Amino acid sequence: MENHSEDPWQRAYDFAVEVARKAGEEIRKAGESEIKVMTKSCIVDLVTKTDERVEKIIIGSLKEKFGEGTHCFIGEESVAKGEPCILTDKPTWIIDPVDGTTNFVHRFPFVAVSIAFAVNKQLEFGVVYSCLEDKMYKARRGRGAFCNDEPIQVSDVKDIHKSIIMSEYGIDRSPDKVNKIFTTMQKILCIPVHGLRGSGTAATNMCLVATGAVEAFFEIGIHCWDIAAGAVIVQEAGGILLDVDGGPFDLMSRRMVCANNYIIAKRIIKEIDVFTARRDGAPIPKQ
Ligand code: IPD
Repeated sequence: MENHSEDPWQRAYDFAVEVARKAGEEIRKAGESEIKVMTKSCIVDLVTKTDERVEKIIIGSLKEKFGEGTHCFIGEESVAKGEPCILTDKPTWIIDPVDGTTNFVHRFPFVAVSIAFAVNKQLEFGVVYSCLEDKMYKARRGRGAFCNDEPIQVSDVKDIHKSIIMSEYGIDRSPDKVNKIFTTMQKILCIPVHGLRGSGTAATNMCLVATGAVEAFFEIGIHCWDIAAGAVIVQEAGGILLDVDGGPFDLMSRRMVCANNYIIAKRIIKEIDVFTARRDGAPIPKQ
């Protein structure tokens, strides 16, 4: 018989994997028909009916299983519609139903479902289902990281010149921000490193760090739902998380470096032209 007093979250973890797979199937099916695109904060901030529907399916399934009221939910599309984005000590699910919406719209083949679970503000597990590749990444705190049930591990590269680094451009197109992003990318490329990549989904980028395919991923402007599940997966695969200024990782800060080790992380951090992003959950200033 299962002993849930010693292992209170195993049932939730297993169910998260099930729900992520179901969500991924919905996304794959939706991609076979015409995709109706809408915008959120600006014309490059895309959302589709599938993002909204899949988030409803995920949250609906979790509420049905674990009961309304006891668990909290932070979901990308619910927050876009005005729900709070506040991480408390209560058991909280952090969900991105379609990470890589722009990819999904363009049928660029990397799209992920990202589901994480935190208690007392500590991430307990993360599940990232890269649904077009059918890769199920998952990790529980202290129990290792897996891709399709095979253990995964970060690379052991310590020489930055032998690394591949990942980043993204985000959706802020103000020339000042874009300039900083490109300056950073140019500086990192010219260290030099073997390559600079971006899959278009932060969650997948983090899983690629976890498998050892690349050494690091960094971005300013991501949200907690993009990185919460990946954060557990990278750490359980032996990697590390830091703020872009070298300080401790803060899930709600919208800035992050994840890497295979501190040597690679610190070397990249030296080149990052840091800018601020309004924290997740911070009030939006009135225009
Ligand atoms: C986006 C992706 C992208 C990253 C953006 C995210 P979304 O998530 O993860 O790679 O650059 O910062 O917002 O909007 O497709 O869920």
